Amino acid sequence: MKTIIEPFRIKVVEPLQVRTREEREAIIRAAGFNVFLIPSEDVLIDLLTDSGTGAMSSLQWAGIMRGDESYAGSPSFFHFERVLQEITGFKHILPTHQGRASERILFELVGGAGKVVPNNAHFDTTRANIEHSGAQAVDLPIAEARHPRDRHPFKGNLDVAALRTLIERTGPEKIPVVMCTVTSNTLGGQPVSLENLRAIRKVCDQFHLPLFLDACRFAENAWFIKQREPGQRDRPVKEIVREMFDLADGATISAKKDGLVNIGGVLLVRDEALFQRACNLLILTEGYVTYGGLAGRDLEAMAQGFQEVLHEDYLRYRIRSAEYVAEKFLAAGIQIVEPAGGHAIYIDAAAFCPHIPPAQFPGQALVAGLYRHAGIRSVEIGSVMFGGAGHPPPALELVRLAFPRRVYTQSHIDYVVEATIEVFQQRDKLRGLKMLSEPPALRHFTSRFEEV
Ligand code: F0G
Repeated sequence: MKTIIEPFRIKVVEPLQVRTREEREAIIRAAGFNVFLIPSEDVLIDLLTDSGTGAMSSLQWAGIMRGDESYAGSPSFFHFERVLQEITGFKHILPTHQGRASERILFELVGGAGKVVPNNAHFDTTRANIEHSGAQAVDLPIAEARHPRDRHPFKGNLDVAALRTLIERTGPEKIPVVMCTVTSNTLGGQPVSLENLRAIRKVCDQFHLPLFLDACRFAENAWFIKQREPGQRDRPVKEIVREMFDLADGATISAKKDGLVNIGGVLLVRDEALFQRACNLLILTEGYVTYGGLAGRDLEAMAQGFQEVLHEDYLRYRIRSAEYVAEKFLAAGIQIVEPAGGHAIYIDAAAFCPHIPPAQFPGQALVAGLYRHAGIRSVEIGSVMFGGAGHPPPALELVRLAFPRRVYTQSHIDYVVEATIEVFQQRDKLRGLKMLSEPPALRHFTSRFEEV
């Protein structure tokens, strides 16, 4: 069959509220052209993020009922621990409330002034936690990642030669961990190959450095490896996932992505001494080690979610949905970061609206245009998010359409495609924006704009 169906059926529905064009016009103006300031009830299709926005399965909801809320030694923790041990091969499994909590614990323990932490490309919370500890976060993407049209199959790869140079220049004693993010959100949802992970491991071994994965989207990364990497097609995804984790000394995971839950995170650590220190800090700031700032029911939902995400019919459907949107956009002349990412499509907003200069935020203008035209919420990843006083202008002006897991159907996706193509056909009507207020940090969340 050519048609790849959603490998689930719907048991509970959540009605969408359709606003009129006039209502949306008033809403976007009241929000100062910032979609973070729009109440989500006024959004028809919400592609702001794939994080914590997925739909849980009937078995996950059953787990919610089964959850044991004992403070210490809950059977829900042991279930969660057993599942994560089986998938990752790690002995020590710590639950946290979300990805950045794992990052905060890790970098409070290994970061600090004078330290340097390399990554293929840090996600903003990882970078922020490293910098908060006083250390420096360094991105080492391969050169292909800088070009939206380059269709390198593993555009998330880390530049291994640049890593070696950085270690030699900085001195290995200043590098507490080498990180690699799978898939790389910052580089466009692009995967990292096993070959690249093995090469990073080799460099780490040479300099006796630990390798940590930011493994939020580990299953999507493994599916790409199965599809694209020579010799991997016949391996079960589970086996590829296991090899990815076997190459690492630790991992931070936001379960809000491939854990298929609305809240939760994991910290994996192989080193005994570091694990003990992580336990102490977890107890101090998140909660006891058998719940880590979550409810017992959340641990049951994660235990089930981490198993379901490895179902290959799910991953085939998941990765195909983004690819389908990419094909339609490219055929209509809309430039995106090619090839399609796993969890999202990144539109090249500078190419979409060449009449709007970076100083007038072409990405934000497109985000506002998509909401106004069709009630679609996306997010700017460009001069609004990364620019501002003291920051170099970002290399690309992007708009991300991130797909929640198991939430929208094929016709929702077709609607998004149709609406975006309509906005593209009238792109000369999109107007640049002027920023009216600018908070000192993370300005994209709260800044307000007016049209120029
Ligand atoms: N690492 C990566 C690669 C991420 O994409 C995220 C979150 C995190 C870490 C932090 O996890 O939110 O659970 O604390 N990304 C979301 C996004 C917010 O929209 O891309 P968290």
